[in-house]
Amino acid sequence: MKILELENVTKIFTTSRGKKLIACNNISLSLEKGKTLGIVGESGCGKSTLIRMIMQLETITSGCIKYNRQDISKFTKEEIWKNRQKIQMVFQDSLGTFNPKMKIIDIITEPLINFGLLNKKDKKAKAEELLKSVDLPLSCLYSYPHSVSGGQLQRVSIARALSLEPEILICDEATSALDVSVQKNIMTLLDKLRKEKKLTVIFVCHDLALVQSFADDIIVMYLGNTVEYLSNRDIVNNSYHPYTKALLASVFSVNDMDKKLELLEGEIPSPSNIPKGCPFVNRCKRAVEICYKEQPILKKFENNHYIKCHTYN
Ligand SMILES: Nc1ncnc2c1ncn2[C@@H]1O[C@H](COP(=O)(O)OP(=O)(O)OP(=O)(O)O)[C@@H](O)[C@H]1O
Ligand SMILES: [Mg+2]
Repeated sequence: MKILELENVTKIFTTSRGKKLIACNNISLSLEKGKTLGIVGESGCGKSTLIRMIMQLETITSGCIKYNRQDISKFTKEEIWKNRQKIQMVFQDSLGTFNPKMKIIDIITEPLINFGLLNKKDKKAKAEELLKSVDLPLSCLYSYPHSVSGGQLQRVSIARALSLEPEILICDEATSALDVSVQKNIMTLLDKLRKEKKLTVIFVCHDLALVQSFADDIIVMYLGNTVEYLSNRDIVNNSYHPYTKALLASVFSVNDMDKKLELLEGEIPSPSNIPKGCPFVNRCKRAVEICYKEQPILKKFENNHYIKCHTYN
Protein backbone atom coordinates (compact mmCIF):
# COMPACT_ATOMS: atom_id res chain seq x y z
CA MET A 1 0.00 0.00 0.00
CA LYS A 2 1.28 3.45 -0.90
CA ILE A 3 1.62 5.55 2.22
CA LEU A 4 3.19 8.67 0.71
CA GLU A 5 3.04 10.12 -2.78
CA LEU A 6 4.55 13.35 -4.04
CA GLU A 7 3.44 14.67 -7.41
CA ASN A 8 5.54 17.40 -9.03
CA VAL A 9 6.32 19.14 -5.76
CA THR A 10 8.13 22.44 -6.23
CA LYS A 11 9.41 24.94 -3.69
CA ILE A 12 10.57 28.36 -4.77
CA PHE A 13 11.98 30.73 -2.15
CA THR A 14 12.48 34.43 -2.69
CA THR A 15 15.89 35.41 -1.33
CA SER A 16 16.52 38.58 0.64
CA ARG A 17 17.81 40.14 -2.61
CA GLY A 18 14.49 39.38 -4.30
CA LYS A 19 15.88 36.57 -6.48
CA LYS A 20 13.93 33.35 -7.04
CA LEU A 21 15.61 30.24 -5.65
CA ILE A 22 14.26 26.87 -6.77
CA ALA A 23 15.00 24.64 -3.78
CA CYS A 24 12.94 21.70 -5.10
CA ASN A 25 11.92 21.33 -8.73
CA ASN A 26 9.02 19.05 -9.70
CA ILE A 27 9.84 16.24 -7.28
CA SER A 28 7.68 13.11 -7.55
CA LEU A 29 8.02 9.99 -5.43
CA SER A 30 5.98 7.12 -4.16
CA LEU A 31 6.64 5.25 -0.94
CA GLU A 32 5.14 1.90 0.05
CA LYS A 33 4.23 1.31 3.69
CA GLY A 34 7.10 -0.30 5.61
CA LYS A 35 9.76 0.64 3.07
CA THR A 36 12.76 2.90 3.52
CA LEU A 37 13.55 5.69 1.12
CA GLY A 38 17.02 7.22 1.11
CA ILE A 39 17.49 10.76 -0.18
CA VAL A 40 21.06 11.65 -1.03
CA GLY A 41 22.81 14.68 -2.47
CA GLU A 42 25.30 17.43 -1.71
CA SER A 43 24.67 20.23 0.75
CA GLY A 44 22.07 22.69 -0.51
CA CYS A 45 20.45 20.32 -3.03
CA GLY A 46 17.04 20.67 -1.34
CA LYS A 47 16.83 17.54 0.84
CA SER A 48 15.70 19.31 4.00
CA THR A 49 13.30 21.56 2.11
CA LEU A 50 11.69 18.48 0.58
CA ILE A 51 11.14 16.77 3.91
CA ARG A 52 10.08 20.01 5.60
CA MET A 53 7.30 20.13 3.00
CA ILE A 54 6.35 16.51 3.78
CA MET A 55 6.33 17.45 7.49
CA GLN A 56 4.24 20.50 6.59
CA LEU A 57 6.76 22.77 8.24
CA GLU A 58 7.11 24.49 4.86
CA THR A 59 4.35 25.30 2.37
CA ILE A 60 4.65 23.97 -1.17
CA THR A 61 4.78 26.33 -4.15
CA SER A 62 3.08 23.81 -6.45
CA GLY A 63 2.33 20.11 -6.71
CA CYS A 64 0.66 17.76 -4.29
CA ILE A 65 1.63 15.61 -1.29
CA LYS A 66 -0.61 12.66 -0.46
CA TYR A 67 -0.40 10.75 2.81
CA ASN A 68 -2.61 7.65 2.82
CA ARG A 69 -4.23 9.02 -0.37
CA GLN A 70 -5.23 12.30 1.30
CA ASP A 71 -3.84 15.53 -0.12
CA ILE A 72 -2.16 16.93 2.98
CA SER A 73 -1.06 20.09 1.20
CA LYS A 74 -4.70 21.23 1.43
CA PHE A 75 -5.05 20.50 5.15
CA THR A 76 -6.25 23.12 7.63
CA LYS A 77 -3.98 24.08 10.55
CA GLU A 78 -5.88 21.72 12.85
CA GLU A 79 -5.60 18.83 10.40
CA ILE A 80 -1.87 19.53 10.01
CA TRP A 81 -1.44 19.41 13.78
CA LYS A 82 -3.34 16.10 14.06
CA ASN A 83 -1.43 14.61 11.14
CA ARG A 84 1.87 15.41 12.82
CA GLN A 85 1.29 12.45 15.12
CA LYS A 86 1.64 10.19 12.12
CA ILE A 87 4.77 11.70 10.54
CA GLN A 88 7.62 12.38 12.92
CA MET A 89 11.17 13.53 12.46
CA VAL A 90 14.66 13.20 13.95
CA PHE A 91 16.99 16.12 13.25
CA GLN A 92 20.77 16.36 13.04
CA ASP A 93 21.08 18.94 15.79
CA SER A 94 18.92 17.54 18.59
CA LEU A 95 20.60 19.70 21.22
CA GLY A 96 19.48 22.81 19.33
CA THR A 97 15.91 21.57 19.05
CA PHE A 98 15.41 20.57 22.70
CA ASN A 99 14.62 22.98 25.50
CA PRO A 100 17.86 22.93 27.55
CA LYS A 101 15.88 23.43 30.76
CA MET A 102 13.81 20.27 30.27
CA LYS A 103 14.84 16.90 31.67
CA ILE A 104 14.88 13.88 29.36
CA ILE A 105 11.78 12.43 31.03
CA ASP A 106 9.87 15.56 29.98
CA ILE A 107 11.45 15.80 26.52
CA ILE A 108 10.39 12.30 25.49
CA THR A 109 6.89 12.44 26.90
CA GLU A 110 6.07 16.02 25.86
CA PRO A 111 4.50 15.06 22.49
CA LEU A 112 2.13 12.58 24.20
CA ILE A 113 1.15 15.16 26.79
CA ASN A 114 0.62 17.82 24.09
CA PHE A 115 -1.70 15.49 22.22
CA GLY A 116 -3.57 14.61 25.44
CA LEU A 117 -2.49 10.97 25.16
CA LEU A 118 -0.71 10.62 28.50
CA ASN A 119 -1.72 11.31 32.10
CA LYS A 120 0.94 12.92 34.27
CA LYS A 121 0.73 9.94 36.68
CA ASP A 122 1.73 7.51 33.91
CA LYS A 123 4.58 9.71 32.68
CA LYS A 124 7.46 7.95 34.46
CA ALA A 125 6.41 4.46 33.36
CA LYS A 126 5.97 5.62 29.76
CA ALA A 127 9.32 7.44 29.79
CA GLU A 128 11.03 4.30 31.07
CA GLU A 129 9.41 2.23 28.33
CA LEU A 130 10.57 4.73 25.70
CA LEU A 131 14.13 4.84 27.06
CA LYS A 132 14.29 1.04 27.01
CA SER A 133 13.07 0.91 23.42
CA VAL A 134 16.09 2.99 22.34
CA ASP A 135 18.51 1.10 24.63
CA LEU A 136 19.19 4.04 26.95
CA PRO A 137 19.83 3.48 30.67
CA LEU A 138 17.02 4.55 32.99
CA SER A 139 19.58 6.72 34.79
CA CYS A 140 19.16 9.21 31.90
CA LEU A 141 15.59 9.95 32.92
CA TYR A 142 16.37 13.00 35.03
CA SER A 143 19.40 14.21 33.02
CA TYR A 144 19.43 17.41 31.00
CA PRO A 145 20.16 17.22 27.25
CA HIS A 146 23.59 18.90 27.53
CA SER A 147 24.79 16.29 30.02
CA VAL A 148 24.44 13.25 27.74
CA SER A 149 26.60 12.26 24.73
CA GLY A 150 25.76 13.01 21.08
CA GLY A 151 24.79 9.39 20.43
CA GLN A 152 22.58 9.26 23.53
CA LEU A 153 20.97 12.54 22.48
CA GLN A 154 20.02 11.07 19.10
CA ARG A 155 18.48 8.09 20.95
CA VAL A 156 16.46 10.58 23.03
CA SER A 157 15.38 12.25 19.81
CA ILE A 158 14.31 8.90 18.33
CA ALA A 159 12.42 8.00 21.53
CA ARG A 160 10.60 11.34 21.41
CA ALA A 161 9.74 10.93 17.73
CA LEU A 162 8.45 7.38 18.29
CA SER A 163 6.43 8.27 21.41
CA LEU A 164 3.43 9.10 19.23
CA GLU A 165 3.73 5.81 17.34
CA PRO A 166 4.08 7.49 13.93
CA GLU A 167 3.69 5.62 10.67
CA ILE A 168 6.49 7.54 9.00
CA LEU A 169 9.81 8.44 10.61
CA ILE A 170 11.95 10.99 8.81
CA CYS A 171 15.64 11.20 9.71
CA ASP A 172 17.33 14.35 8.42
CA GLU A 173 21.09 13.79 8.67
CA ALA A 174 20.26 12.21 12.04
CA THR A 175 23.62 10.49 12.32
CA SER A 176 25.82 12.91 10.39
CA ALA A 177 27.30 14.69 13.40
CA LEU A 178 28.27 11.45 15.15
CA ASP A 179 31.52 9.48 15.23
CA VAL A 180 31.51 6.52 12.85
CA SER A 181 31.18 3.87 15.61
CA VAL A 182 28.31 5.74 17.29
CA GLN A 183 26.74 6.27 13.87
CA LYS A 184 26.78 2.52 13.31
CA ASN A 185 25.04 1.88 16.64
CA ILE A 186 22.29 4.38 15.81
CA MET A 187 21.81 2.80 12.37
CA THR A 188 21.47 -0.61 14.03
CA LEU A 189 18.90 0.83 16.42
CA LEU A 190 16.94 2.44 13.57
CA ASP A 191 16.98 -0.83 11.68
CA LYS A 192 15.69 -2.72 14.72
CA LEU A 193 12.94 -0.17 15.37
CA ARG A 194 11.73 -0.02 11.79
CA LYS A 195 11.30 -3.80 11.78
CA GLU A 196 9.70 -3.98 15.23
CA LYS A 197 7.33 -1.10 14.65
CA LYS A 198 6.79 -1.64 10.92
CA LEU A 199 7.87 1.93 10.30
CA THR A 200 8.12 3.62 6.93
CA VAL A 201 11.39 5.56 6.99
CA ILE A 202 12.76 8.45 4.97
CA PHE A 203 16.49 8.65 5.56
CA VAL A 204 18.11 11.85 4.36
CA CYS A 205 21.87 11.97 4.19
CA HIS A 206 24.72 13.38 2.09
CA ASP A 207 26.63 10.10 2.58
CA LEU A 208 25.67 7.59 -0.12
CA ALA A 209 27.43 4.71 1.66
CA LEU A 210 25.21 5.17 4.71
CA VAL A 211 22.05 5.49 2.61
CA GLN A 212 23.03 2.36 0.69
CA SER A 213 23.41 0.40 3.92
CA PHE A 214 19.82 1.10 4.88
CA ALA A 215 17.42 2.08 2.09
CA ASP A 216 15.12 0.09 -0.20
CA ASP A 217 14.91 2.89 -2.77
CA ILE A 218 17.18 5.86 -3.34
CA ILE A 219 16.56 9.34 -4.72
CA VAL A 220 19.66 11.16 -5.88
CA MET A 221 19.15 14.93 -5.80
CA TYR A 222 21.17 17.64 -7.47
CA LEU A 223 20.35 21.35 -7.26
CA GLY A 224 16.71 20.78 -6.34
CA ASN A 225 16.16 18.05 -8.93
CA THR A 226 15.76 14.30 -8.75
CA VAL A 227 18.45 13.18 -11.17
CA GLU A 228 18.00 9.46 -10.53
CA TYR A 229 15.40 7.45 -8.60
CA LEU A 230 16.06 3.75 -8.30
CA SER A 231 16.08 0.65 -6.17
CA ASN A 232 19.07 0.29 -3.86
CA ARG A 233 19.68 -3.08 -5.56
CA ASP A 234 20.50 -1.26 -8.79
CA ILE A 235 22.67 1.55 -7.53
CA VAL A 236 26.08 -0.09 -7.85
CA ASN A 237 25.70 -1.92 -11.15
CA ASN A 238 22.71 -0.38 -12.87
CA SER A 239 22.75 3.36 -12.09
CA TYR A 240 23.23 5.67 -15.04
CA HIS A 241 23.31 9.35 -14.15
CA PRO A 242 26.85 10.81 -14.13
CA TYR A 243 26.13 12.46 -10.78
CA THR A 244 25.08 9.13 -9.21
CA LYS A 245 28.24 7.61 -10.67
CA ALA A 246 30.34 10.39 -9.17
CA LEU A 247 28.77 9.87 -5.74
CA LEU A 248 29.44 6.15 -6.07
CA ALA A 249 33.03 6.81 -7.06
CA SER A 250 33.48 8.74 -3.84
CA VAL A 251 32.46 5.69 -1.77
CA PHE A 252 34.40 3.03 -3.69
CA SER A 253 37.25 1.49 -1.77
CA VAL A 254 40.75 0.85 -3.10
CA ASN A 255 39.62 -2.68 -4.09
CA ASP A 256 37.17 -1.18 -6.54
CA MET A 257 39.72 0.94 -8.34
CA ASP A 258 39.50 -1.24 -11.43
CA LYS A 259 35.92 -0.02 -11.90
CA LYS A 260 35.60 3.01 -14.14
CA LEU A 261 35.33 5.97 -11.80
CA GLU A 262 33.63 9.21 -12.80
CA LEU A 263 34.95 11.73 -10.29
CA LEU A 264 33.25 15.07 -9.74
CA GLU A 265 35.01 18.20 -10.90
CA GLY A 266 34.03 21.85 -10.78
CA GLU A 267 31.83 23.72 -8.35
CA ILE A 268 28.15 23.24 -7.68
CA PRO A 269 26.33 26.33 -9.05
CA SER A 270 24.22 28.53 -6.77
CA PRO A 271 20.57 27.38 -6.60
CA SER A 272 19.54 30.95 -7.39
CA ASN A 273 21.64 30.79 -10.57
CA ILE A 274 20.96 27.36 -12.05
CA PRO A 275 22.39 26.75 -15.56
CA LYS A 276 19.95 27.15 -18.43
CA GLY A 277 20.00 23.54 -19.61
CA CYS A 278 20.71 20.56 -17.39
CA PRO A 279 21.54 21.65 -13.81
CA PHE A 280 24.53 19.29 -13.84
CA VAL A 281 25.94 20.47 -17.18
CA ASN A 282 28.97 22.41 -15.89
CA ARG A 283 30.32 19.31 -14.11
CA CYS A 284 29.29 16.62 -16.58
CA LYS A 285 31.83 14.81 -18.73
CA ARG A 286 29.10 13.38 -20.95
CA ALA A 287 27.47 16.72 -21.79
CA VAL A 288 26.41 17.21 -25.41
CA GLU A 289 24.95 20.27 -27.15
CA ILE A 290 21.36 19.80 -25.98
CA CYS A 291 22.46 19.62 -22.32
CA TYR A 292 23.46 23.31 -22.49
CA LYS A 293 20.09 24.34 -23.95
CA GLU A 294 17.28 22.30 -22.45
CA GLN A 295 16.44 20.92 -19.03
CA PRO A 296 16.09 17.15 -19.29
CA ILE A 297 12.95 15.55 -17.91
CA LEU A 298 12.84 12.58 -15.56
CA LYS A 299 12.27 9.55 -17.80
CA LYS A 300 11.39 6.00 -16.92
CA PHE A 301 14.33 3.69 -17.62
CA GLU A 302 12.68 0.53 -16.38
CA ASN A 303 10.32 -0.41 -13.54
CA ASN A 304 11.04 1.82 -10.55
CA HIS A 305 14.09 3.36 -12.19
CA TYR A 306 13.97 6.98 -13.44
CA ILE A 307 16.76 9.08 -14.91
CA LYS A 308 17.01 12.79 -15.70
CA CYS A 309 19.67 12.97 -18.39
CA HIS A 310 19.68 13.88 -22.11
CA THR A 311 22.37 11.33 -22.88
CA TYR A 312 20.15 8.46 -21.89
CA ASN A 313 17.41 7.59 -24.41
N1 LIG B 1 13.75 29.71 4.13
C1 LIG B 1 14.59 29.80 3.09
N2 LIG B 1 14.69 30.93 2.38
C2 LIG B 1 15.51 31.02 1.30
N3 LIG B 1 16.28 30.02 0.86
C3 LIG B 1 16.21 28.85 1.53
C4 LIG B 1 15.37 28.68 2.68
N4 LIG B 1 15.53 27.40 3.13
C5 LIG B 1 16.42 26.80 2.31
N5 LIG B 1 16.83 27.68 1.37
C6 LIG B 1 17.78 27.39 0.28
O1 LIG B 1 17.28 26.26 -0.44
C7 LIG B 1 18.36 25.45 -0.89
C8 LIG B 1 18.15 24.05 -0.40
O2 LIG B 1 18.37 24.04 0.99
P1 LIG B 1 18.18 22.73 1.89
O3 LIG B 1 18.41 23.13 3.31
O4 LIG B 1 16.89 22.10 1.56
O5 LIG B 1 19.37 21.81 1.36
P2 LIG B 1 19.96 20.45 1.95
O6 LIG B 1 20.10 19.53 0.80
O7 LIG B 1 19.14 20.02 3.11
O8 LIG B 1 21.41 20.89 2.44
P3 LIG B 1 22.29 20.32 3.68
O9 LIG B 1 22.88 19.01 3.21
O10 LIG B 1 23.33 21.38 3.88
O11 LIG B 1 21.39 20.15 4.87
C9 LIG B 1 19.64 26.10 -0.35
O12 LIG B 1 20.21 26.89 -1.38
C10 LIG B 1 19.15 26.97 0.78
O13 LIG B 1 20.00 28.08 0.96
MG1 LIG C 1 19.56 19.64 5.13
